[in-house]
Amino acid sequence: MAVDLMESKTQKPEVETLVTEPQTQEVSITTRDLSLWYGDFQALENVTLNIRKGIITSLIGPSGCGKTTLLRCFNRINERYGNVTTTGEIRILDKNILDPDVSTRQLRKSVGMVFQRPNPLPISIYDNVLFGSNIHAAHKGISRSVRDQIVEEALVEVDLWDSVKDRLKQRATWLTLEQQQKLCIARLLPLKPEIILMDEPCSALDAEGTEKIENLIERLREEFTVVIVTHNMAQARRASDECVFMLLGEIIEHRPTADLFMTPENEKTEMYIQGRYG
Ligand SMILES: Nc1ncnc2c1ncn2[C@@H]1O[C@H](COP(=O)(O)OP(=O)(O)O)[C@@H](O)[C@H]1O
Ligand SMILES: [Mg+2]
Repeated sequence: MAVDLMESKTQKPEVETLVTEPQTQEVSITTRDLSLWYGDFQALENVTLNIRKGIITSLIGPSGCGKTTLLRCFNRINERYGNVTTTGEIRILDKNILDPDVSTRQLRKSVGMVFQRPNPLPISIYDNVLFGSNIHAAHKGISRSVRDQIVEEALVEVDLWDSVKDRLKQRATWLTLEQQQKLCIARLLPLKPEIILMDEPCSALDAEGTEKIENLIERLREEFTVVIVTHNMAQARRASDECVFMLLGEIIEHRPTADLFMTPENEKTEMYIQGRYG
């Protein structure tokens, strides 16, 4: 996929690459010796990881083990917290995203993020879907009918269209939490991300909302690479293809989810999935 993470001064013609081969072994995110410090505190230690394309990978581990920090490395959101030092390499779309010439704006378009608490803007449902596109120049100056189509397609994809199509001008903050979280996923889609990061996306939802969002995540697989942080082991088992177990900023085990839970290789993984700590 020829997506350029570097800041482009001039508009390049878009090159369509038709990929027909199955991509299951292709890698989407690679880290090499990734370490991160908040001030003096080391939160990630030599994380080396390959996250495969087109599958759902879950990050699990006790609270404070660095799941959110690792996820936030993949679109460089950690940098917003100040006093953060990152070393090592993170390759996404064939580029070390820690290189100084990487545009974080382009990066965050390719690597979208969904947070624990749904965070729609206090504007209409319609404008929420378009907000990302509006601030990214590609969609500036497009016609009303094209905008309508972008909004409809994104809302259909997250299974929200039928319930909101007659009230698109209503404030998004009036929606239920489950609908708000779907909207937060929908607004990433017009940017055509490669990767969607989710940090405990169901933690604010009830059981029914959780099930609906999990079903949606399942449907996003294949089209996107999904990395999901969860403290809920049952959710990791249900919702992911591969699972990464972390402890104190390190990766302990990364395997197909069923294998990790059925036959953990590391004693620490076994203790964790038996609920003996964390
Ligand atoms: N912005 C921050 N400033 C300082 N320390 C932080 C910050 N964010 C996280 N930490 C610390 O880094 C460690 C990992 O945190 P985090 O990635 O949030 O873990 P998890 O998501 O697994 O609960 C914790 O010890 C946490 O206190
Ligand atoms: Mg967290």
